This record gives sequence, C-alpha cells and structure tokens, in this order.
Amino acid sequence: MTGKAELSILVLASADLARSVAFYRQCFDLPLLVDAPSYKELRLPGGQRLGLYQQEGFCRNTGQPVTAAAAGTTTTTELYFHVAEPSALLAKLVEAGATLLSPLRRRDWNDEAAYLADPDGNVLVVATRGDTAGAGTRYDLNLTLQRCTLRDWRRSDRESLVRHADNSAIADNLRDGFPHPYTAADAERFFSLCDSLPQCTFFAIAVADQAVGGIGLSLHTDIERISAELGYWLGESFWGRGIVSEAVAALTDWAFATLPLERIYAMPFAHNLASARVLEKAGYQLEGRLRSNVIKRGKILDQLMYARLRGGG
Ligand SMILES: CC(C)(COP(=O)(O)OP(=O)(O)OC[C@H]1O[C@@H](n2cnc3c(N)ncnc32)[C@H](O)[C@@H]1OP(=O)(O)O)[C@@H](O)C(=O)NCCC(=O)NCCS
Repeated sequence: MTGKAELSILVLASADLARSVAFYRQCFDLPLLVDAPSYKELRLPGGQRLGLYQQEGFCRNTGQPVTAAAAGTTTTTELYFHVAEPSALLAKLVEAGATLLSPLRRRDWNDEAAYLADPDGNVLVVATRGDTAGAGTRYDLNLTLQRCTLRDWRRSDRESLVRHADNSAIADNLRDGFPHPYTAADAERFFSLCDSLPQCTFFAIAVADQAVGGIGLSLHTDIERISAELGYWLGESFWGRGIVSEAVAALTDWAFATLPLERIYAMPFAHNLASARVLEKAGYQLEGRLRSNVIKRGKILDQLMYARLRGGG
C-alpha cells in the first residue's frame, strides 16, 4: 500500500543566499536546520521546511536552467501564510526588503490578504482566515446528511457552541477536558486547539447551519498512528432524533476514505446506553469491557470498547 505523499520541503531559488536567509529568518523567526554553502533550510511553523538554494546551484539536480524574475515582475511561486494579526508581520516584511504589491483587503474567498514580493520576486501572501476557526490544516468538510451537516468549526459558532455545550448532562459523559460550565473562553480555547493541530479532525454537527454538537477523531502517533478515537456530543434539545447515529456512520466512512487509518474506536462509559446504541447502529462492534478503567466525578467506572475496522468488521 502506498502512503499519502506529504509536501515536506518547499525550495526557492535565491540570487543572494545570505540576503534570502536573513530575510526569511528575520521576518518569520525560523530556525536554521541545514547550513550548507549553497543551500540553507529553515523550519516552518507547521513542521514543513523552507529550502533556499543559491540560484546557480538550483539546476544541479534537475539539469534545467533557472530563470530569475526581471525587475518589476514576480516569479510564479506564491507562499501563502495565515496569521492571526497581519499588521506586525507586514511591517517586518517591508522593513526587511519585501515589496508591497497589493495591500491587506478582504478577498473573494473571504480571507483578508496582502500580497508582497520577496527580494527574489517570489510572491508572499499574508492573510487572516475568513470565517473558518483558525490556521491549522483543514479538510473543508461539508457532509450534508439527512438530519444534519458535518462541517469545519467556525469562530462565528462560538455562541451556539457555548449554548449547547454548557450542560452537565453532556460533560458527565465525556472526558474532564470537556468543561462544565462551558464558557466563551472554553470555546476560544477549543478553536485555538483546532488551530494548533497539524490536522484538525474535529467537526461541528450543524442543524440549519447552527452548530449544535461536535464530532471528532483524536489521531495518534507512533505505533498507534493507524487508529483513532472517535468522540461526539449533541445539544440536549436535539437528542433522540437519530442525528448522532447518522453523523457517526458518515464520519467513519469519510475517515476511512480520507485518512490512513485501519481502526476507529470509541470508549463510552458502560452506563451510557444511548452512546453504545449509536455505535452499534453505525456498524461498530463491541470488543469488550474495560473494568474500572476511568474515574469520573470521583466514581470509578467501566468503559466499553467499540471499534470499526477499515473494510468493515
Ligand atoms: C449519546 C448522544 C451523542 C446520542 O445522540 P442522539 O443524536 O440523541 O442519538 P440517536 O438519536 O442517533 O440514537 C440514540 C439511540 O440510543 C437509544 N437510547 C437513548 N437513550 C437510551 C437509554 N437510556 N437506553 C437505551 N437506549 C437509549 C435511542 O433510542 C436511540 O436508539 P434507536 O434509534 O434504536 O431508538 C447524546 O445523547 C449526547 O450527546 N450525550 C452526551 C454526550 C455523550 O454521551 N457523548 C458520547 C460519549 S462516548
């Protein structure tokens, strides 16, 4: 089986390597990872790397000549950066020698973006995200189902999130990390968590475009990277309408089609019969009972282990 290819290093040709390194390090505060005479590599905040290759050497591996941008033109390469607060970065870029091409303004895809050229003519975009909640990797999920839609969280969901999540009947069935009371600050923390994840696999359950619940996968690393834990909750006024059963089935299908997972599992408290029923209806199999596995509100509880494997079963 071939895994998904990941873009790990973006390499730019530079007419003046020292100047380019100083420019990117100064503006984006990037650590230097590789310091060879004609090639430098910096670590970008998302974990990818930015390579800067002295223009004359760039063609060494490809055998193709490199064309530099003529004065007053740009290359056809664009680096798009999302930031929460663009003005300080824009000032830094201009001070370091970038040319402002088009000032900050809302674009038709809803980001507020400014366009600049770096000293080699590569296009840099500094943007704030439009209505989506943050700057992490997004799947632009939009699964329209019979009873609800599963979609990315938006910062504008904050009020609705707080209204539906602030309920002990929900928090009592989840990890302690899901707070009660649930405040606007908790919602902001949740959006920031989504932003900070390399891949955000937490989604809103929306009814009539109002976010009334959440569903998501906690992805694992190391040897557990082929399995993920499913979690979900729904505003109490929507319970009993088949919404989460539909959401769990659809999100599981989407996850197996999109992510390199072999197993998706959920661990409801053993007394959470509604959740167990939801999982059974979505094709999850009961694998066992984890006796005295957790403590919630001072009570030691059993959990049930339900799982669905890629290809069913
Ligand atoms: C569990 C929860 C997500 C269910 O969402 P929902 O949209 O109401 O679920 P659905 O309507 O799709 O399905 C619920 C099923 O459980 C059944 N059910 C509900 N309460 C039950 C109970 N006390 N005993 C047995 N079955 C029960 C319903 O009858 C329905 O099954 P059916 O369709 O065969 O009749 C929701 O109640 C919730 O958010 N609870 C708090 C948070 C939580 O428990 N999250 C899961 C953590 S593992």
